[in-house]
Amino acid sequence: MEDSRYIKTGAGMEQKLILSEREAVLVLERISKIKDASMGNHSLRTGHYARLIAENIGMSEEEQDIIFHAAQIHDIGNVAISDKILFKPGKLTDEEFKIVMGHTIEGHRFLKDRENRYFKAASIIALTHHERLDGSGYPSGLSGDDIPMWGKIMAVVDVFDALTSKGPYREPWNIADAAALLIKNKGVLFEPRFVDIFTLKLDRVNEIRIGLSDSQL
Ligand SMILES: [Fe+2]
Ligand SMILES: [Fe+2]
Repeated sequence: MEDSRYIKTGAGMEQKLILSEREAVLVLERISKIKDASMGNHSLRTGHYARLIAENIGMSEEEQDIIFHAAQIHDIGNVAISDKILFKPGKLTDEEFKIVMGHTIEGHRFLKDRENRYFKAASIIALTHHERLDGSGYPSGLSGDDIPMWGKIMAVVDVFDALTSKGPYREPWNIADAAALLIKNKGVLFEPRFVDIFTLKLDRVNEIRIGLSDSQL
């Protein structure tokens, strides 16, 4: 009997391929979330925020879907970092911080050179989400247009979510203060047009934040 899971038509095959690519990224989202333990729904929120920017700069629905999933594994390289360092209470030594910064390169190494469209985007995001417009970021100190667009979008939403989430030793910032910090650093650390779009949509951002707040876990 024919196995109904396999579709023979051209369009069907394409659909099947997209589904299996998505299945693979969903597995990585689960794995990534384990190392995100202290950050609650951080990855998922950043996926929604990144998609919101993508939607409002006119990216196609396919690209919006890609960034939604790819963003959620931006820190997957943390699986290569020892928990003792990653979850160390208190300040990291310079040496430890250097190791933590390596999560960008590790994530890129896991994901690069794959045909899977989510992995292609995620490999760029993993490598470049800590780069900053003025060259002060890591791991490569890229600046301006040398930073890929997806890394620049991720930088905005990653910082915003970190600020508005509860840290081990600090209360979350309110969204107006976090937005003000993004605006203050527009053109310095962050790409102006992504900050503009994101801060114009703060009502929607807040809905996402409340809907996926860590107290729901
Ligand atoms: Fe990161
Ligand atoms: Fe992050």
